[in-house]
Amino acid sequence: MGRDLAKVLITEEELQGKIRELAARIDADYAGKDLLLVGVLKGAVMVMADIARALRLPVQMDWMAVSSYGAGTKSSGVVRVLKDLDTDIAGRHVLVVEDIIDSGLTLSWLLQNLKSRDPASVEVCALLRKPEAVKVPIDVRYVGFDIPNEFVIGYGLDYAERYRNLPFIGTLAPHVYGGEGD
Ligand code: XMP
Ligand code: MG
Repeated sequence: MGRDLAKVLITEEELQGKIRELAARIDADYAGKDLLLVGVLKGAVMVMADIARALRLPVQMDWMAVSSYGAGTKSSGVVRVLKDLDTDIAGRHVLVVEDIIDSGLTLSWLLQNLKSRDPASVEVCALLRKPEAVKVPIDVRYVGFDIPNEFVIGYGLDYAERYRNLPFIGTLAPHVYGGEGD
């Protein structure tokens, strides 16, 4: 695995420090409120688990799995729900927990979908945000790190379903996806 990694972009310590910072803000913002965390599978598993444990607030957790239609690695904005929420969110305060916002298309679809269910509020916490996402008119209240426009892996993020269990965020060596051999 070591030689597949180009570099470590965000260390485990930096991730955990940021998680504590975000959790403190969420605790303050939702004090006295009943909060439902909605994790987006599978990438958000690690950030969801760590944020939830760093919060002092009692929260509920639910999950959605969505997939973008369309060929290739680019998000098309047309989204298919693979697993819907188990929870009725009408009247609830919802915080969507995401691993990464790239084009922002998946998230804008998801927010529209959730808002149509009449929640009391919907906000977003994304661990990572790429430069493209800044162009999308989505108000993301909690952002962990703004990162360069590179494909990243680890801490929930995969390349072909691998590397999700790395405790840090890294970039892949070109030979892994470039077919240049090693
Ligand atoms: P959009 O473009 O709709 O896509 O914001 C967001 C989803 O695309 C995936 N994604 C990545 N996955 N490394 C990954 O492992 C990346 O660098 C990356 N960029 C986008 C991810 O599933 C995210 O939810
Ligand atoms: Mg993925």
